[in-house]
Amino acid sequence: MFQSIERRPPDPILGLSAAYKNDPNPSKVDLGVGVYKDEAGNCPVMKAIKTAEQKLWETEDSKSYIAQAGPELYLQHTAGLLFGNTHPVLKDKRASVVLAPGGSGSLRVAAEFVTRNAPNTRIFVSDPTWNNHIPLLGSAGLKLELYPYYDYASHRIDFDRMLAKLGEAKKGDLVLLHGCCHNPCGADLNREQWQAVADAAQRQGFTPFVDLAYQGLGDGLEEDVWGLRHLAEKLPEVIVASSYSKNFGLYRERTGAVTIVAGNASAAEAAGTQVVGTAREMYSVPPAHGAALVALVLDDAALRQEWDAELTEMRDRINGLRAALVAKLQDKGVERDFSFIQNEKGMFSFLGLTPEQVKKLVNDYSIYLVGSSRINVAGINQSNLDYLADSIVAVL
Ligand code: LMR
Repeated sequence: MFQSIERRPPDPILGLSAAYKNDPNPSKVDLGVGVYKDEAGNCPVMKAIKTAEQKLWETEDSKSYIAQAGPELYLQHTAGLLFGNTHPVLKDKRASVVLAPGGSGSLRVAAEFVTRNAPNTRIFVSDPTWNNHIPLLGSAGLKLELYPYYDYASHRIDFDRMLAKLGEAKKGDLVLLHGCCHNPCGADLNREQWQAVADAAQRQGFTPFVDLAYQGLGDGLEEDVWGLRHLAEKLPEVIVASSYSKNFGLYRERTGAVTIVAGNASAAEAAGTQVVGTAREMYSVPPAHGAALVALVLDDAALRQEWDAELTEMRDRINGLRAALVAKLQDKGVERDFSFIQNEKGMFSFLGLTPEQVKKLVNDYSIYLVGSSRINVAGINQSNLDYLADSIVAVL
């Protein structure tokens, strides 16, 4: 059975971690996988999470299965973070939230939920998008279409072309939107553009499917969901796949949620039961640990404040690094204008290098980044900034 199976090449993003680890060069720099790193290059456990883990250890009295949809407090606080406590969607009970394993697990469960109810559904996906979106959504049975998003020459969103392509999306189609901190390019829709997308969805009847993996790492917890909240206010149906990997640092705990916004409370409730049933067919019940921690933090005013402050520190550090890289490249006399990096949001930006230049950075300078020239800005620190800038200058 396995005789003729071919070996898979390493994952274009996750594979970079192993290559980095095995590289003996003491100057190596890891700008690959999108995990937050502190100044010392570590991906820390957040302080509020440590406290919550202690509390959980003291109080947890069973490892029996949790509720299929997830713990009630977790679901309530997730809805609160997404929509704010006074949003009409929550007042009208039009949202069903279901715990799922991380952002990817949430994307996959939501996609499977859609194809079980409407096989052959089309999904319009930004070009470029996260490397794993296309295999993950495609293998769930969604039919993929690309819409133009990022213009590599001007380092801006090509919004006219995006909207023109979305003109083809009809009722029954999905449009995948990055809620904030676009992965891989870091260029986010502004409020006017979100409004234009909502108007197009209203006119044409397509359903936005929002991937929200970086809430709080762009402009702020509230600011980063302005677009999502606007869509949910204007439209009858929205799907959200959200993740606590990055904003709670819970990567390995696989903690996320599928949220279905429907036209009324009973449709939302019914859809929620189908999402739960889909998950039952896929992996039965969700993992408990991360969700318990998120609920503990969000439900305790002091812990929540501590978490919010640490998240703010992370966001400020990333924005500071963006400015520092642009300034350092200028200091080195680079003619090319890199100021776009400073205007982009979240962990990622493209350096705008060719695949050959990227290869050179990896092979000759031990600077690990994705082949598209996507860097994880959080991997930069004061000790590697000079070396990174010199290496970029050398390959340019
Ligand atoms: C990334 O884009 O680097 C992260 O979302 C990690 C992953 O799973 O690819």
